[in-house]
Amino acid sequence: MTRLLVTGAAGFIGSHLVEAALAAGHEVVGVDNFDPAYDRALKERNLAAAVEHPRFRFHEADVRDRAAMTALLDAGTVVIHLAARAGVRPSFEQLTDYIDINVNGTAAVARAALDAGVSRMVFASSSSVYGESTPLPFREDAPAIAPVSPYAASKRAGELLLDALGAATGLRVAALRFFSVYGPRQRPDLALHTFCRQLAQGEPVTLFGDGSAVRDYTCVADVVRAVLAAADWTATAPAGVTAFNVCGAAPVSLRTLVTTLAGALGVTPDIRFAPLPAGDVLATAGDPARARTVLGHEPRTNFSEGVAAFVAWFEEAHAEQH
Ligand SMILES: NC(=O)c1ccc[n+]([C@@H]2O[C@H](COP(=O)([O-])OP(=O)(O)OC[C@H]3O[C@@H](n4cnc5c(N)ncnc54)[C@H](O)[C@@H]3O)[C@@H](O)[C@H]2O)c1
Repeated sequence: MTRLLVTGAAGFIGSHLVEAALAAGHEVVGVDNFDPAYDRALKERNLAAAVEHPRFRFHEADVRDRAAMTALLDAGTVVIHLAARAGVRPSFEQLTDYIDINVNGTAAVARAALDAGVSRMVFASSSSVYGESTPLPFREDAPAIAPVSPYAASKRAGELLLDALGAATGLRVAALRFFSVYGPRQRPDLALHTFCRQLAQGEPVTLFGDGSAVRDYTCVADVVRAVLAAADWTATAPAGVTAFNVCGAAPVSLRTLVTTLAGALGVTPDIRFAPLPAGDVLATAGDPARARTVLGHEPRTNFSEGVAAFVAWFEEAHAEQH
């Protein structure tokens, strides 16, 4: 059994991770401040099952509160830092919030970890760090020096900050570059969730670009297995940051996404088109080789199965609200 501190525990990925870590026998301390980026009630519902578990403790706290973080840590804890403002598009308008939470928040968590003698950390990074100029499929040794959104810049800044600290202190960090995560409890702002809502309500679906943009959709069930594998691996990892792509079984176009969703919902989609917004990249596809070789991680969920699981959750959540 390992003691894990999970920041962002009430969020989409965090709440699945908490449940998987408890099922794997770990002791879990969860932290979340119910950031107002989306509805608090959704996050409370995410945690409803976990809060009953005897090996789970939850603290409503802000990761930027270094003293609060230090109080929750001991030297044997593995820190899994997921808390962030997530999402590309709002990061232009909400620039200072993104930098404050994602960069200063990561600095505060890292400082608190070092103060407590923690030596192992997993950091939620993003495929967006690769920007538009990295050749496909993205490999972790690409320079990743041209992010195209403040969000991507904040995630790359987090990686660089942790790498510098690792070199100086011996902190061992796995930075997991998640690729378009989807599944039950997905954030309401993400494209797959928005399309599903529009299709279910019989509204037209607007695709940016010509619908051929591809994303490497990754099911949250596979993501949490990768996080737990990375947490184990930090026991023997080198100092500093090692980046890993956490990507899906195969990239999928926006059109295929919509037709798969429509099929699972049993509706016919009415598709419209609009120009690609700033900050969006045309294609993401990760090279999974490093995660496979070093972490022994392999995505298991194929896209139609994952979408079916999402739609089943969506329909149940929707039925509860009415
Ligand atoms: N979902 C994706 O497709 C995706 C892709 C790449 C990277 N990521 C990263 O994975 C992580 C989790 O993403 P998610 O989709 O679950 O998002 P989410 O918004 O559902 O979860 C993030 C959680 O962090 C919490 N939080 C925000 N600021 C905080 C603060 N100052 N103190 C404490 N808690 C705070 C929020 O309340 C939220 O519950 C994020 O770091 C995100 O950037 C997600």
